[in-house]
Amino acid sequence: EKFLYFEEVDSTNNVAKKEERSCVLAKRQTAGRGRLGRKWESEEGGLYFSFEFPRKVPAVKAHRVTILTGLVVAKTLEKFNAKIKWPNDILIDGKKVSGILCELVGEELSSRVIVGVGINVKNELPEELKDRATTLKNYNVSITEIFCSFANNFAEVLNLEWSKILEKWRQLLDTIGKEVEVRAGSEVYRGIALDVDDEGALIVKCGDELERVFSGECFYM
Ligand code: BTN
Repeated sequence: EKFLYFEEVDSTNNVAKKEERSCVLAKRQTAGRGRLGRKWESEEGGLYFSFEFPRKVPAVKAHRVTILTGLVVAKTLEKFNAKIKWPNDILIDGKKVSGILCELVGEELSSRVIVGVGINVKNELPEELKDRATTLKNYNVSITEIFCSFANNFAEVLNLEWSKILEKWRQLLDTIGKEVEVRAGSEVYRGIALDVDDEGALIVKCGDELERVFSGECFYM
């Protein structure tokens, strides 16, 4: 309902949490947050925004919002050959260009979901990230173009059935068939990523066992 723009803010996710049904965009963030309690580098030149998912979602289905958003970002960046690394990192040439942070607010059965998206467009990356992260600065593309394309793709994907979303997401997943290490809490799974199940959980063949991993961090070996 509300569109908010900031030159500087701690984290657009924080604002979107407070302002019901808003979309919040910032030029830079002073305390950008990533998954697993990490920091998200948010220098000027990148695209940083958060919005409230337009429907309330039971907490057990919140992973679908993350997958849907991953698909939308990957489609938005498809012409730059973007791929998805399970569960929701967006990679170009094997390096992370975008990340998604979904946060739940409120009741188990009907939660607000705050979706935060960070895309490295023309922002300078710290030296220590340069072997793992990349930007779009070698492509002739602006923050506005990417934001508009995201919005259009989002509107399109939002109307698709879950099975269709999963199918398209799976097509852009770069993880299937790879040798992976997945860290999920204190568990570590090493093996071949065989596929994803119908909720997007990763199926890893570890020796003779098949493990189903619902969330975590995935490394390619
Ligand atoms: C990740 O891959 O770890 C997720 C990164 C999410 C970053 C975005 S930038 C806009 C929004 N505000 C935040 O503080 N984080 C998200």
